[in-house]
Amino acid sequence: MESELQETIGQIKSLKRKFGKELVILTHHYQRPEIVELGDYVGDSYALCKKAHQLDARYIVFCGVRFMAESAEILRRDFQMVFHPEPFSGCPMADMAEGEDVQRAFEELDEVWGKNSYIPVVYMNSSAEVKSLSGERGGIICTSSNADKIVSFVFSQKKKVIFIPDEYLGFNTYRKLGKDMSKLAYWDFSLPLGGNTPDELVKREYLVWKGYCHVHTFFSREHILAAREKHKGCRIVVHPECRPEVVELSDASGSTEFIVKYIADSSPGSTVIVGTELNLVRRLAASYNDRRVFELARSMCPNMFKITLAKLKTTLESIPDKNRVLLPENVKKHSREALKRMLDTAG
Ligand code: 13P
Ligand code: SF4
Repeated sequence: MESELQETIGQIKSLKRKFGKELVILTHHYQRPEIVELGDYVGDSYALCKKAHQLDARYIVFCGVRFMAESAEILRRDFQMVFHPEPFSGCPMADMAEGEDVQRAFEELDEVWGKNSYIPVVYMNSSAEVKSLSGERGGIICTSSNADKIVSFVFSQKKKVIFIPDEYLGFNTYRKLGKDMSKLAYWDFSLPLGGNTPDELVKREYLVWKGYCHVHTFFSREHILAAREKHKGCRIVVHPECRPEVVELSDASGSTEFIVKYIADSSPGSTVIVGTELNLVRRLAASYNDRRVFELARSMCPNMFKITLAKLKTTLESIPDKNRVLLPENVKKHSREALKRMLDTAG
């Protein structure tokens, strides 16, 4: 088994040598360690999106979930092609905002709030179709590393916001900005007007779509209390997709890149407990053996895990024929505008 894996790694390395500068492999922080090891860049979804936009390589192989590879496809230049080693590596939270539900929400809000009085803020973890529908209405994408910047920017334009599709990142961002929480309401996409009355909606300035990430909502208040009891004096850092009470009881919260930096900046000998996907926590624990890094609880993203060495190898061997990410130009046009608004605003 081990020798088989080593053989596959050797074959991937030799394919990479064959392609040279023509090929770049982007890997998200939640990928299996052996995939991260073979990547040319590792980063959070914002850093990788920016990278995909700046690269000169002809072939971009994206080891992450579907929405990340789609974003690279939306931003790529004409001579480039994007590949995703496992087309079924999706994101359940992104699937919680279907295009037709989002379109209906916009039509209902146009009636109650008025078409020009709000701007959709759409989390990167969404389909290309939802990005496009939002982009067409002046919507803007955000990621966990810049959600506060993007939401403040929209408020500075004197517009209201519907935040799609992560209820927790949406809530945590609004609270972090010190906003009046009575102006926040939830949008339950299975109900007319998201489960609100017109009178309630006119009093609000910020709506959060009721979607969530099961990997991060798994972490609870009890996990935090138990960790503080077991590791006296520890620091706790979590991802902002976690529940508000988990974020509140932690010492810090931020994107995967923020978490990586938090561990790098922690002092040798210290103990840091991390509330995010297991593969990233395990990789950090192995890289910093002069400090103690533990998971808040075992929680893994099964979709990120679907990308294996064998699938990466097959993708590289069959370039440009297999696993190419392709989107219709009419979807790309407005989703590109929404992504570019983020890049222009967040820097
Ligand atoms: P980051 O933007 O922090 O990399 O997070 C992406 C993600 O899917 C978290 O669940
Ligand atoms: Fe989606 Fe959660 Fe996996 Fe991130 S960790 S890709 S939000 S399911």
